[in-house]
Amino acid sequence: PRVIAQLIVDNLDVTEVCEPPQIAGPGFINFTVKPSYLATQLQAMRTNERLGVAGAEQKQRVVVDFSSPNIAKEMHVGHLRSTILGDCIARVLEFRGHDVLRLNHVGDWGTQFGMLILYLRENYPQALTTPDAIDLGDLVVLYKKAKKQFDEDTEFQEAARTEVVKLQAKDPESIKAWQLLCNQSRREFQVIYDRLNVRLTERGESFYNPYLPAVVDDLRESGLLVESNGAQCVFLDGFTNRDGDPLPLIIQKTDGGYNYATTDLAAIRYRIQTDRAERIICITDAGQADHFAQVFQVARQAGWIPDRVEIVHVPFGLVLGEDGKKIKTRDGEAIKLKELLDEAIDRFRNDLESRLAADHRQETPEFIANSAEIVGLSAVKYADLSQNRLSNYVFSYDKMLSLQGNTAPYMMYAYVRVRGISRKGGIDFDRLGDNAQILLDEELERTLAKHLLQLDTIITEVERDLLPNRLCQYLFELSQKYNQFYDKHSVLDAEEPIRTSRLILCDLTAKTLQLGLDLLGIPVLERM
Ligand code: ARG
Repeated sequence: PRVIAQLIVDNLDVTEVCEPPQIAGPGFINFTVKPSYLATQLQAMRTNERLGVAGAEQKQRVVVDFSSPNIAKEMHVGHLRSTILGDCIARVLEFRGHDVLRLNHVGDWGTQFGMLILYLRENYPQALTTPDAIDLGDLVVLYKKAKKQFDEDTEFQEAARTEVVKLQAKDPESIKAWQLLCNQSRREFQVIYDRLNVRLTERGESFYNPYLPAVVDDLRESGLLVESNGAQCVFLDGFTNRDGDPLPLIIQKTDGGYNYATTDLAAIRYRIQTDRAERIICITDAGQADHFAQVFQVARQAGWIPDRVEIVHVPFGLVLGEDGKKIKTRDGEAIKLKELLDEAIDRFRNDLESRLAADHRQETPEFIANSAEIVGLSAVKYADLSQNRLSNYVFSYDKMLSLQGNTAPYMMYAYVRVRGISRKGGIDFDRLGDNAQILLDEELERTLAKHLLQLDTIITEVERDLLPNRLCQYLFELSQKYNQFYDKHSVLDAEEPIRTSRLILCDLTAKTLQLGLDLLGIPVLERM
């Protein structure tokens, strides 16, 4: 190995980037990056608005299908996780220059609407004719009651089916009632999106209704469709029932109705043919992995996915309570997102108030309210994004709001501290001079410099693997490396030209934190 190592070194020209490579041990080659090279790269990063992160060479049209709650039901923590992950993924892709369509595939169609409309007509008719007659919470309760009656009462079941047929036939009264219900839910969802500062274009399941018959026709034409017990199915490869028989994907039910999967097939076609998507990303809990694998398989067999199109399901794990079980309220009810977010904000406000009191710091109520709102929501986002999305994670207010560790408050404070230097020294980071020298004589300066220069690589990785936790980890390590540098070396008290050089490192750290957090959907505060 040493001979081979020597051969490699003899044939390598890295003089611009590295000191002469050293052969060590049984045959390792050690490379030491030249400080002058790091300095040149940092200069380039400084003068570049994108901090050296290149735009994608091949700009793509990308569909990100995320959030996607269901009408007349509460948006739950799974939808929250999809919303947070989806927004981050869309931001990263947008930053790389892709043309991103952020689609909210809300569950706004299906047999449940027949049941709900019928129940409301009998028990709560004003809900079907008057906007805002009930709020979403009540609607959810009524939905549960309707479901109960549906399960117990065969006459009600029959009537509900008639109701679905009316709705599908676009009976004006049914459509009006359905629209009212949708608007009600939509408004409530929007409150959450506004608070989280997440942009989405709603294109629910109902949008694809006109395209469902063609899905069936084309599958029939390609010879994939098989009738089984009166239903139109495609038999799947690699999916079997308990007896080992191939599992069918039901495309059209015996009564002529369509399924969730049929809508997804129509959506794939529409997104490829009409939206011209080259990458389609669907973000849901891992429980839907089979559903997507099945739908993608059928679409592939039917030849609907050209080679140039990449289609992926981006799964994520469960959000658990501190007891390690699916998160619930104390009375075992599903947690309301609004309450969950409010709690994070309240707790941060309390922490902040006691810190202010301890430091004898006076702040206005607006300042406190604003900081609490921003940090509380950011803490929830960051807790979600910093976990590998494939694993379940425990939703812990104490952990996510902690000022120590890989949390939003820690990262946001790191930013405030770096920026604080410019305030303290009366320094305008933007006027450090384009030609100021960057000197990297100290080990900790070089370590920080090398980390700063990895931003481009990390963002490219997130774009490819769709794992936002890599970006969180990068930013966390950046603040740690910055802290080590700052603890050991003085900045404001250093002699010139070292002082300016170190200020440049501080400025680049702040800018990198700001950009990185922005890609996570987290704003920075100048003071906290
Ligand atoms: N509405 C679904 C749910 O709440 C999620 C939809 C995800 N997107 C899709 N194209 N199927 O589980």
